Amino acid sequence: MILLTESELKITGESFLELAYTLVRIRDLDVLLETILKRIRGMLGADAGSIFIYDDEKDELIFKYTQNDSVQLPFKEFSIPANEESIAGYVAKTGSTLRLKDVYHLEDEYPFGFNVSFDKMSGYRTKSVLAFPITDLNDQLTGVLQIINKKRYEVPLTLENVNRIVLPFNDNDEMVAESLTGVISLALENGVLYDNLEKMNESFITELSKALENREPFSMGHVNRVTAICETLASEMHRDLDDFPDFFMNRLKDKILRYSCRLHDIGKLFVPEKIFAKSGKLYPGMTENIENRFRLAKACARLGGRPKVLTDELDRLLAVIKDANISDIDDKIAEDLAKCVGYIFEDSDGEDVKLLSEEEYALLSIREGIYTEDELKSLRFHALGTYEFLRNIPWTAELRDVPVIAASHHEKPDGTGYPFGTTDADLHIFSKIMAVAEGYDHYTADPRPCGQSMMPEEAAKALRKDAESGALDKKIVNFFINKEIYKRF
Ligand SMILES: [Fe+2]
Ligand SMILES: [Fe+2]
Repeated sequence: MILLTESELKITGESFLELAYTLVRIRDLDVLLETILKRIRGMLGADAGSIFIYDDEKDELIFKYTQNDSVQLPFKEFSIPANEESIAGYVAKTGSTLRLKDVYHLEDEYPFGFNVSFDKMSGYRTKSVLAFPITDLNDQLTGVLQIINKKRYEVPLTLENVNRIVLPFNDNDEMVAESLTGVISLALENGVLYDNLEKMNESFITELSKALENREPFSMGHVNRVTAICETLASEMHRDLDDFPDFFMNRLKDKILRYSCRLHDIGKLFVPEKIFAKSGKLYPGMTENIENRFRLAKACARLGGRPKVLTDELDRLLAVIKDANISDIDDKIAEDLAKCVGYIFEDSDGEDVKLLSEEEYALLSIREGIYTEDELKSLRFHALGTYEFLRNIPWTAELRDVPVIAASHHEKPDGTGYPFGTTDADLHIFSKIMAVAEGYDHYTADPRPCGQSMMPEEAAKALRKDAESGALDKKIVNFFINKEIYKRF
């Protein structure tokens, strides 16, 4: 147990400068809020705290960040009016610091009551509070900081020990808090500014990725689904201390994962649209052209008095072509296709017409899947395209890994993936999570006749097989399936 002495809590000129230096270097708002609260709570020996940012247009306080060493509840941003009906609102309105010994026994002089909903929900007991305004150099309000439950000892608070452990905040705490408001205000202003710029970037890029999805009709909703799977998977891994004791998420990591997911296929910008438009081996419109040619060939055969057996054979070959367009082919079908490409008939103008063009023949002759080697190369290029696109964006230091994480969603632990061929030890865990989500969506969501369109159980089996072969992270795949997370999508 650590006894927090008065001298330990006292801020020195050195630590003030160090804090100022730390804060002005942080550009990510979430990291900034986290650091501000952590450092001030550390200086004052407090168990919890919250930051409100003032929105002067709406005259509201936005509940932007909270920390609590004793209980954890999911965070949700909300706004309250900047009026005297709440502790933070009172501080915002009056511009004065509040030091409350016990918020459950407030003095009559205060117009506000204490909102007990958080305590009720979490089983926490808020007792002492130090709330102070954050103002800039012109004395304009930037936000309100609320520091909660100064502790005698560094132990988690419970309903049983709270009265014994919690102390009221003192004059020194108030002095420390007030001396920090200038630097916090400056850092917050910068942070909010960067945050707005980043949000603009994010919404621009999200819109761009939506527009890109329109080019790929058979993958509609893919980015949203991959993002949702990854977010759920990561938050379940965060909660699971048995399988993933060292894996944890926070607001910055949430952001890194979300950005990486939203942007992972942005490199498809560099892939020709006609490849995405394929629902079989042939490009759109080609099947109709072939059907017309077969009709013409049959009509010409009939006019030329050719035997019915020939028109029947043409019907059979057309059926073979239609099937070959959406299925893998064997030698027998390849022979039939060769017959078609060699068949030339004379139309009513006396012109020679080939039943099947060389390009159609080459496409239909793809043995497996629906893409040629060149098309596969183009498609695979999208991952490197994602990296090239994203690395040119001036990310903040905290988000600098987004390009590599996003671009690595087709990497495999055994090193046979693309674009970099990174192996297990060097792969970011978010890329491994994304590869699992990508795989699951690939198996379940392709609406094309040649697509996988598997049922969840079947897709789960396919993922296990991929993991066995070294294509996916085994531990994550097992977790995704054993905890039945896949069934939610
Ligand atoms: Fe991809
Ligand atoms: Fe993808």
